[in-house]
Amino acid sequence: MNDNQPHGVGAPVQASAPVQISAPASGTASASAAGSFGLARQSQIFQDGLKGVLPALPVDPQALEQAAQAVMTPQARGYLDGMPGTMRANLDAFAAWNIVPRMLRGVQTRDLGVTLFGRQYPAPVLLAPIGVQSIVHPEGEKAVARAAATFGLPVVFSTASSFSLEQTAAGMGDSPRWFQLYWSKSQAFNASVVTRAEAAGCEAIVVTLDTFMLAWRPLDLQNAYLPFMQGVGLANYFSDPAFRAELAEPPEQNPQAAVRHFLGIFNNPALTWDDLRWLRERTKLPILLKGILHPDDARCSLDCGIDGLVVSNHGGRQVEGAISALDALPAVIEAAAGRVPVLLDSGVRRASDVIKARALGAQAVLLGRPYLWGLALGGEAGVREVLGNLLADLDLTLGLSGYRNFAELDRSSLVRAAR
Ligand SMILES: Cc1cc2nc3c(=O)[nH]c(=O)nc-3n(C[C@H](O)[C@H](O)[C@H](O)COP(=O)(O)O)c2cc1C
Repeated sequence: MNDNQPHGVGAPVQASAPVQISAPASGTASASAAGSFGLARQSQIFQDGLKGVLPALPVDPQALEQAAQAVMTPQARGYLDGMPGTMRANLDAFAAWNIVPRMLRGVQTRDLGVTLFGRQYPAPVLLAPIGVQSIVHPEGEKAVARAAATFGLPVVFSTASSFSLEQTAAGMGDSPRWFQLYWSKSQAFNASVVTRAEAAGCEAIVVTLDTFMLAWRPLDLQNAYLPFMQGVGLANYFSDPAFRAELAEPPEQNPQAAVRHFLGIFNNPALTWDDLRWLRERTKLPILLKGILHPDDARCSLDCGIDGLVVSNHGGRQVEGAISALDALPAVIEAAAGRVPVLLDSGVRRASDVIKARALGAQAVLLGRPYLWGLALGGEAGVREVLGNLLADLDLTLGLSGYRNFAELDRSSLVRAAR
């Protein structure tokens, strides 16, 4: 397998030439070790300014999004998009809460670290599973994994990736990684890919529940575009021995048949809670369910022996008019009753969002589109820039809100915004 090519049949779309990134204050997010990660990065940016050097990417998330939109192909732009109402709801839900900063609390030493499933992570931020990343940059998942490894932030590998999980893992040393499973109709593939994820050092399995069929996505339909049809985003399938054993000819010889087989096994609307027992018996890794929005589903998850929940509406890409993830969070937290960690995904754009999610009880958040915008604009360096900025913002905003660590945040750290 060529390590420098996405493992797919269709040619990846070259989105944009990499841009030059000034690299202020890279390294881990351990604020206390460096005095302050946030201050160091901020100071570096201002010093660069004296030499006429501006940050290579927009610092503001909205400006970052606009810049990324401008360099992506219309097809990629459409694929990143979602249903307008649900996407807006995700962002509005964060705006509906305000942090109430506290003063004079001796916050000169801050620790952004969190523990999940007995493991220490540098910040309560994971990179959400995002498939088919070669449509915005040829280095795709490999670039993202290397950038995340710079900070030791965990990456959740998608089942539907442009590079195989082994190719992606190869570039990130010991840095943490989880695996997201799309539960296909082929139990042989499901079993095989979970075993591969374990072998590649993944520390948890995240089962995405909300995408057992692709939604009616207006832009993708308008563009008549689905990357999988071109064999893009199928690296984990095409490289999988169990998937290959189900084909009459290998994908390299008959890519169309391999794509057809993928399309035949991907949709799986027959899944029920009972099916989870099969996975529970197959792996000792913590299992999280992604896409939980209803408290009753949180209770069902606990009954099935699930280890963690990810409250998410898939970034608004599945059900238009769905409840925002943040609005769904409190009831899910209550249903989970402290028995398993609850993570929040969908709509996280800036540090204050992370703080709000933590204050409402989420143990960590999944960062999605923002790192993809960085990837589209600057490849690995672009993702590093986005992650570094988020961590610096997190360090400073946590301290300025009056907290030394995330354990100090609770519901009293927030008020409902005046409308
Ligand atoms: C282009 C794109 C591809 C995605 N692919 C996957 C995927 O393969 N598996 C998955 O569980 N979620 C996938 N997601 C959903 C993300 O994991 C996450 O839930 C979403 O990006 C959160 O919304 P936000 O980016 O607006 O914060 C994808 C999202 C986008 C935008």
